[in-house]
This record gives sequence, structure tokens and C-alpha cells, in this order.
Amino acid sequence: MLEKQVDLQTEALETILNELQKKGYCVLDNAFSIELIDALQQQINVLSPSDFHAAGIGRQKNFQLADSIRQDHIHWLNNQQEDAAKRFLDNMSQLQQAINRRLFLGLFDYEAHFAAYPTGGFYKKHLDAFKGKSNRVLSTVLYLNEDWSSADGGELILYDEHDLDLQIEKISPVKGRFLIFLSESFYHQVNPSNKERHSIAGWFRINNSLSGNIDPAS
Ligand code: OGA
Ligand code: MN
Repeated sequence: MLEKQVDLQTEALETILNELQKKGYCVLDNAFSIELIDALQQQINVLSPSDFHAAGIGRQKNFQLADSIRQDHIHWLNNQQEDAAKRFLDNMSQLQQAINRRLFLGLFDYEAHFAAYPTGGFYKKHLDAFKGKSNRVLSTVLYLNEDWSSADGGELILYDEHDLDLQIEKISPVKGRFLIFLSESFYHQVNPSNKERHSIAGWFRINNSLSGNIDPAS
């Protein structure tokens, strides 16, 4: 039988678990093999504009386009083909298992999309989940930008979970950098960038009943 390809480095996994436990978030480079990052870049680069749609805010009947708040265009990942996206999703289910074993978060599934921010694009300060209103527990972002310099902007600003105006991290979206944080605890924003900016944003979810609905989409 073919061994499943493992791209999530063992040391990175340890760091993620420890930092999540200690401070509720973790930023690290080289979490995944460079081959996987290259393949993901390749995959997003060959998508055409019609494969993307403008992201909005809210789900289902509350969905609205909101380009004064966010300007990314998104394409949801699926695991139907043997491609880089599937390889990434396989790695994230390994991460899910490890987190559940160590931190007992009861994560149930993971959803993720490619995101392309146009030049000048941003995402204003927000939370990915509000207490009791969403099944999103942990947010992840993986950056896919070749040769990103500090002059290109586009940083993700992470705010303190208690002092909501205090910036605790300014994260440049460089190739291979990975961020994971508790969705209900950390406000964050994406600063405008001076060129197109690529990432994969994703969420580990629990399977909770919200207002009588079993597992509604966030
Ligand atoms: C999001 C988000 C951050 C990024 O999609 O909710 O905050 O850096 N993305 O792409
Ligand atoms: Mn977000």
C-alpha cells in the first residue's frame, strides 16, 4: 500500500500544540513541506477569475456582499481530485486529530478556501466567530506569496484577546507562513497590499446544535 504523504513536519505539529495551549495562537514558517507549498501556489495560479467569487459576510440567508469590509475573492477547496488542495486537506485532518487528542477540542471537520486579495485589497478588523453563534473554533491561514517584501504590505494584524486595541502580531504574508488561532478570541485584520495577495483561510469546526439546527453551516 502507498504510504500517505505527510507534509506537516513533526516539529511544527509539536509547536502548534504547545503554543495553542499556552497562548491560543501560533505563527510559524516551514510548517509544511516546500513541495506542498509550491504545488498549492501552482494550483491557485492556474485558477481563472471565473473560478473565484467575491467573498461576503454572513452565511445563507444572512449572506451579503461587503466590499467596504473585505475585498478578497475566494474559491473553496475540495478533496475530490488528487491534487495539492487534497494533500493540504489531508494534512489538516491529521492536525485535527492531533489537536483533539492533546487539547480535547472536539473538532469535527475543516473547511477552507483559496483567497485572492486584489492590489489595494483589505479585510477590516473582525472576529471569525461569535460566542454561541458559530461552529468555528480554530482559524487557520496559510500564505502562498512568492517574494513578498515588507514594502508590499498586506500584513495580518492580530489583536490581544483581552485588550482589543492592542496589536500583538504583525504578520507578513510570506510564502509558507502558517497561522492558527482561536476563532472566538482573536480580532484580526488584513492591511491593504500593494500587489495581489494569496492565502488559504480555513476553519476547524465543532458539530454543535445551534438554535435547534444540527450542524448548520457556521
Ligand atoms: C479571513 C481572514 C486572513 C488572511 O478570511 O477571515 O481573516 O490573511 N483572512 O487572508
Ligand atoms: Mn478572519
